[in-house]
Amino acid sequence: MPGAIYVETFGCQMNVADSELIIGHLAAHGYARTHDPAAADVILLNTCAIREHAEERVVGRLTDLARHKLERRDLVLGMCGCMAQHHRTALTARVPMLDLVVGPDAYRRLPALLDAARTARATPVGARGIPHAARAGGNPLIDVRLDADETYADLPAARAPGDIRAWVTIMRGCDKFCTFCVVPYVRGRERSVPADAVLAQVREAAAQGVREVVFLGQTVNAYRDGACDLAMLLRRAAEVPGIARLRFTSPHPSDMTPSLIAAMAEVPAVAPQLHLPVQSGSDTVLANMARGYTVGEYRDLVARLRDRIPEIALSTDVIVGFPDELPEDFDATCRLVEEVGYDHAYLFKYSQRSLTKAARLPDSVSEDEKSRRLAHIIALQEEIAAERNRRWIGRSVEVLVERPARRSPGHVAGKTPQFTTAVVASDAAPGTLVWATVTESTAHTLIATAA
Ligand code: SAH
Ligand code: SF4
Ligand code: F3S
Repeated sequence: MPGAIYVETFGCQMNVADSELIIGHLAAHGYARTHDPAAADVILLNTCAIREHAEERVVGRLTDLARHKLERRDLVLGMCGCMAQHHRTALTARVPMLDLVVGPDAYRRLPALLDAARTARATPVGARGIPHAARAGGNPLIDVRLDADETYADLPAARAPGDIRAWVTIMRGCDKFCTFCVVPYVRGRERSVPADAVLAQVREAAAQGVREVVFLGQTVNAYRDGACDLAMLLRRAAEVPGIARLRFTSPHPSDMTPSLIAAMAEVPAVAPQLHLPVQSGSDTVLANMARGYTVGEYRDLVARLRDRIPEIALSTDVIVGFPDELPEDFDATCRLVEEVGYDHAYLFKYSQRSLTKAARLPDSVSEDEKSRRLAHIIALQEEIAAERNRRWIGRSVEVLVERPARRSPGHVAGKTPQFTTAVVASDAAPGTLVWATVTESTAHTLIATAA
């Protein structure tokens, strides 16, 4: 029965990596990937639940894709990932065209689930054992069992040939329960992929020509396999021939151990770059968020990182308009953002998520005020990022080339060790490291000439 599968991914890099895993697993069961939904036997949306807006986009897209069912009666339309887990059976009412709802810990069972869903759709209405509703819509097959042991360590991921960077999931789930966040509810408990399985994936990626590996996890520095923590895992991965650079994301500030900072400082392959979500610059708000650190502790951590890794680039996540965030709390966040001088920041309006603790607090900051704060901090961060990038003008940077530049003939695009995008006048092949002198900069890009 296997045929063509179309997968569309929403949300974070963990979901991108999960889609590779799903496609790899289904390929081993005879499915071929298609990039054209009209040619698919199965359409699967791998979804995100982090903010309301993310969920609305998914519903919009599902409605869009459901029109293919008018031409293909046996087409199976499925949803997997965090939003599937978040709403579970409640999705049936909201998106009645769904045939399949699969949570993030149930991907191993996808081949069998797809078989069942497709058999149901292909069977004439009224055939024995197949309820009408299974064909008429409104009665999807649902598998949203969370499994505290599932790491998919043995499943093959499908990577695009020619990729220079591989995203490798090393841990799943989250036990932190920040009060605003739905992740612990939709991704379940923290668990780590065995180190040997991670290293086998790194070696395999290197054999396919990958030069940079990014370790992924919701609290990636909570990684642990026996005595092997993230620091040790990085040291071991750095020994894999062919791997030029290693990164990891997202670490939690409270789990930035001295041994991890030492590994970053001492292992040349570990890039001088860290995404260190702060969320707020107010101790009151941080406590209400249950983030587990104070502004002072975060500031100290930044100082220790800069001391050991002077050229480190820092990025962050900030939420504005958390319940009861006062104007002075927001001002404190802006001051911290200025003081740290982030190279990059993801800035969000608080979005109430069902299941979470903060959902029980009144969402007291008006939508207008949230928008005002967001616009203010975005403008502030743009200036800071532009200033941070200007510092590179005239300096030499090592760029890992990824592809020809899209809009500049005779140029290639890649990343600096700090993870800044650089466009270099060069014809170097993807996967090459080139030294280049920076001549111009914007808030998001460096322009350089190969040395
Ligand atoms: N595990 C990472 C973050 C994962 S979610 C960490 O702890 O740092 C990515 C970002 O989305 C978060 O850092 C936060 O800034 C934002 N986010 C999470 N829940 C949110 C919500 N309910 N409303 C707005 N932003 C949210
Ligand atoms: Fe969410 Fe907090 Fe876990 Fe990050 S650490 S995934 S913000 S609960
Ligand atoms: Fe979204 Fe799930 Fe990632 S909620 S941010 S896709 S872990």
